[in-house]
Amino acid sequence: MTQAQQALDYVRGNSERYLSELKDFLTIPSISTLDENKGDVQRAAEWVAAQLRSMKMDNVQIMPTGGHPVVYGEWLGAGKSAPTVMIYGHYDVQPIDPLELWTSDPFGAVVRGDYLHARGSSDMKGQVVASLKAVEAIVRTTGLPVNIKWLVEGEEEIGSEHLGEFIKNNKVLLASDFCLNPDAGMMAADKPTITTGLRGLAYFELKVYGPDKDLHSGLFGGTIHNPAQALIELIAGMHDKNGKVMLPGFYDKVRKLSKKEREDFKRLPVTNKEIIAMTGVPALWGEPQFIPSERTGARPTLEINGLLSGFTGQGSKTVLPAWAMAKISCRLVPDQTPEETMKQMKAYLKKNAPKTIKWELTNLHNAGAAITDSNSAGVKALAQALETVWGKRPYFRREGGSIGSVVLLQKYVGADSLLTGFGLPDDNVHSPNEKLHLPTWYKGIEALTHFFYNF
Ligand code: BES
Ligand code: MN
Repeated sequence: MTQAQQALDYVRGNSERYLSELKDFLTIPSISTLDENKGDVQRAAEWVAAQLRSMKMDNVQIMPTGGHPVVYGEWLGAGKSAPTVMIYGHYDVQPIDPLELWTSDPFGAVVRGDYLHARGSSDMKGQVVASLKAVEAIVRTTGLPVNIKWLVEGEEEIGSEHLGEFIKNNKVLLASDFCLNPDAGMMAADKPTITTGLRGLAYFELKVYGPDKDLHSGLFGGTIHNPAQALIELIAGMHDKNGKVMLPGFYDKVRKLSKKEREDFKRLPVTNKEIIAMTGVPALWGEPQFIPSERTGARPTLEINGLLSGFTGQGSKTVLPAWAMAKISCRLVPDQTPEETMKQMKAYLKKNAPKTIKWELTNLHNAGAAITDSNSAGVKALAQALETVWGKRPYFRREGGSIGSVVLLQKYVGADSLLTGFGLPDDNVHSPNEKLHLPTWYKGIEALTHFFYNF
């Protein structure tokens, strides 16, 4: 029996316990953005640290940052000649609102059919547990053939605000050859995927102020510029009618796609119909000269994430609001930077904001855009592992989401991320009724187990 087979037997023999431990992790509401969940976020960190300790990792620590802590652990017994693989994860999750749209308790972790339902099941506690359990199987059977270091953060869903400083201050501790990052999902249950690029993010809050208090809209309407109206006028001007972003200089640093890259995008098996079915929209939208996978993988965007102003309660109130607010974020591609995007947003507002209102722009958080090496020994080991389990070569694609750690690890540790994952596009991540496809999750654990033996 090969070493990998011994570990895989262990995975199969323990699959029910693996699932029940994942459920346990999912009952902790570790929502990183909400103050009221701070204790839960800490408990989730402790849960991960306890897992690492139970599989005899060394130097396990819950390391403080300016925000939520980082869980670290290592096993360096494979020696200096073996590669060192970092395993990245995040134990924080997105908020659950709107709660009334969930069909079961977001932290109830119930199984219905092939799916486990809970906030964080797909993004990404399921992926964290898949990594933990692959390593556990190897540790309990043959022992690890490579050195590993765990970096599990609690601020990914809020832009990894304190991770840059943490990584910079712990460069020596974190030194590794590659970082396995299973937070990037896959294209479909039968389409194993390696992601070779992620978009960055620049997230803003824009506030527009008018009168010093809410006013009677009959007494003052027509003489005062309604801040809700001024805000949407500003926002409406941020795109042209073809979906191009109108911030000055926004596209200056965007890398042009080569012919070869465009052919690769065209070959990806995603159809417009599938996107329509998955989202429930009547029709797609966006820059007509690019296909949807290019628009999400290689083109930058500007999105309104939320709007707030005036009276929104039951019934009616004739009011002219004192202020209006929008949450706005830009997904960025190489070589745009969040800092330049902030300047471009400010320049747009300076040029276009009318004298009738005051405005205030705050940068909430940022993440860099990344392209990773698709030919490294790490990618080969991962591709081979996915092929062994799925029986077909993985798809390589660039994806539209953001993960702050990828650029930070490139910058401070010189380690490229191996981006993959076992979450599916219809898992409802960040939406009500998040779920995890369990048959794919089990395959993922097996693939990660193979991965470590492939070096
Ligand atoms: N796992 C996602 C990112 C992702 C999703 C990558 C799908 C590739 C494919 C991650 O947890 C996430 O949602 N990140 C945030 C980061 C942001 C707050 C900086 C995002 O992309 O909105
Ligand atoms: Mn995630």
